Amino acid sequence: MKILVSGNMGYIGPNVIKQLKNSYPEADIIGFDIGYFANCLTNTPYFPETILKEQYFGDIRNFPEKLLEGVDAVINLAAISNDPMSFKFEEVTLDINYKSCVNLAKLAKKNGVKSFVFASSCSMYGLADDNPRKEEDKLNPLTAYAKSKVYSEQDLEPLADDNFTVTCLRFATACGWTDRFRLDLVLNDFVAGALVNKEISILSDGTPWRPMINTKDMARAMSWAITRENSNGGNFLAVNAGSNDWNVQVIDLAKAIADEIPGTKISVNPDAPPDKRSYRASFDLFKKLAPSHQPQEDLISTVREIRDNLIGMEFNDPNYRQSKYIRLHILSNLMDKNKLNSKLEWTL
Ligand SMILES: NC(=O)c1ccc[n+]([C@@H]2O[C@H](COP(=O)([O-])OP(=O)(O)OC[C@H]3O[C@@H](n4cnc5c(N)ncnc54)[C@H](O)[C@@H]3O)[C@@H](O)[C@H]2O)c1
Repeated sequence: MKILVSGNMGYIGPNVIKQLKNSYPEADIIGFDIGYFANCLTNTPYFPETILKEQYFGDIRNFPEKLLEGVDAVINLAAISNDPMSFKFEEVTLDINYKSCVNLAKLAKKNGVKSFVFASSCSMYGLADDNPRKEEDKLNPLTAYAKSKVYSEQDLEPLADDNFTVTCLRFATACGWTDRFRLDLVLNDFVAGALVNKEISILSDGTPWRPMINTKDMARAMSWAITRENSNGGNFLAVNAGSNDWNVQVIDLAKAIADEIPGTKISVNPDAPPDKRSYRASFDLFKKLAPSHQPQEDLISTVREIRDNLIGMEFNDPNYRQSKYIRLHILSNLMDKNKLNSKLEWTL
């Protein structure tokens, strides 16, 4: 089997390629990435992409079709991948996350790829009532990022047929350790704050709900999706990926971390405007379709994993919200140095 992973040099990618290597040891795995965050590594002893057969650098907006020759499965992770970045780069977000994703899927189908897996997001549920959102529930995308996921799913659906299986995994909010760790994700940020500043500062009033998933479990879900049979979920499937046990309120996340890292103070912002992104998701369908690829990590194991790795790399930057672990900061820096233009194209 030959698998192409686009956007593999970000936060989740390193764990995805490790999982694929374990699940499909005989497969040829190739990566394709523009390399925005290529050097944002932690203390990994080797370059994560070393395990790939080939790593290509390029822009998904001009995807070279010849890379799809002989490919059986594509996993598309390439994206401007959070709300703050999508506020700043709205048009670029739609171009990369939506138009280029659909174009890649069309090229994949034309070249005989059998399975296309798209990293979608539960953020498309936006602000929702108390009931956990199911796949068929009304969508409420509030940001360019969330909209890019909705539009992609809508245009991917008609491409699916008996010979071209499309799986959109609507992931919960990611967390956990990878070789390109991030601190612009709620749980990761809280653990760093607790360790370095002895304080978790919650930017909201703490009441919003979030479903969470460890990146290792995201990788497990993708490894399931690439060989999913059409009889198990249909030619096109959009499914929430995560665990019912891990819908959590932000304040409870903070409390669990403070229990693991004693001496941590929690501060909330009672005057914060209500966070419009608050939702729970139902993961019943994912459990039914992928019983042997269910999430294995939980809140406590993830907090310990991040804590121990941060301690292992002697992390002690009190200004970590301005560090290389914040994606918007990296992109802004590259623009300030004229290495990227306003369309986030390299000027090198
Ligand atoms: N992190 C989360 O909470 C989360 C949750 C749900 C879904 N997802 C989705 O999973 C995927 C991966 O997320 P991540 O957290 O690893 O994001 P990331 O930002 O860390 O990585 C995205 C990768 O895509 C690459 N990329 C961006 N634009 C590109 C372009 N024009 N051409 C080629 N490559 C390009 C980047 O260089 C980067 O390596 C994204 O699609 C994201 O939307 C993430």
